[in-house]
Amino acid sequence: HLCKGVNGLEKVLLRESRGSSAEVYLYGGHVTSWKNDHGEELLFLSSKAIFKPPKAIRGGIPICFPQFGSHGTLEQHGFARNRFWVIDNDPPPFPTNTSSRAFVDLILKPSEEDAKIWPHSFEFRLRVALGPGGDLMLTSRIRNTNPDGKPFSFTFAYHTYFSVSDISEVRVEGLETLDYLDNLQNKERFTEQGDALTFESEVDKIYLSTPTKIAILDHEKKRTFVLRKDGLPDAVVWNPWDKKAKAMADLADDEYKHMLCVEAAAVEKSITLKPGEEWRGRLELSAVPSSYCSGQ
Ligand code: BG6
Repeated sequence: HLCKGVNGLEKVLLRESRGSSAEVYLYGGHVTSWKNDHGEELLFLSSKAIFKPPKAIRGGIPICFPQFGSHGTLEQHGFARNRFWVIDNDPPPFPTNTSSRAFVDLILKPSEEDAKIWPHSFEFRLRVALGPGGDLMLTSRIRNTNPDGKPFSFTFAYHTYFSVSDISEVRVEGLETLDYLDNLQNKERFTEQGDALTFESEVDKIYLSTPTKIAILDHEKKRTFVLRKDGLPDAVVWNPWDKKAKAMADLADDEYKHMLCVEAAAVEKSITLKPGEEWRGRLELSAVPSSYCSGQ
């Protein structure tokens, strides 16, 4: 269902038969809501989010393409997150392994203006689907359609903002002992020590060559988010904490406590496509009730 969202921007509502749902704005190809079958919101969306170009929506799942962060010469996180995507009613077949009927296909192609800042022709197809158990699945397919034989390279992230009860009570499992680049220390490389990650100050790290499965345990909510990813070797972990949050116009001062970004990404090694080649990057999110035993 296509309907009007904030500021009259168009959004697509997806609803799965058991009651889970999702909302996708055409602006940014941006998932802003994902609810389980009890109607509980699972993604964080800022109360101060600005739904107006060229500002990207603060929260949900912004798509970072063709550049992650400031790793290049383009605007921060590239331009896909602040362009208007269109619904693609006749996409080439997806070899999907789900029987989902609740899905939408979007497509982004560069405008003439875009081609001036990134001189390449591409087709970016995004499928957002809800699985029968309420899982949220995003599949991106990016094709080089350059007519002149030129390859292109890009970096990418699904910049997912998870809703958490209290950031100080959250742990992330699956990234311990890995190498990371620390954005807060000139992108220097370090190795994560010890146990599951916990949070007590600002964090902005790019974990490298991560496992396909990462878990976020929310002690208070008794909920575990499980991320499964494919084609996306890195994982960015970000929380602005109090000072940076205060400096952000589109985030309320205390909201950093209720969000955590864990982003399936391809950052360290950019992806190169020759004309006619297609890259695929997939993210599957599930939210399951958990029992948390501290110290384990
Ligand atoms: C993270 C980056 O992915 O996104 C951070 O690692 C950045 O460095 C954050 O601050 C938010 O970016 P933006 O452009 O949405 O404010």
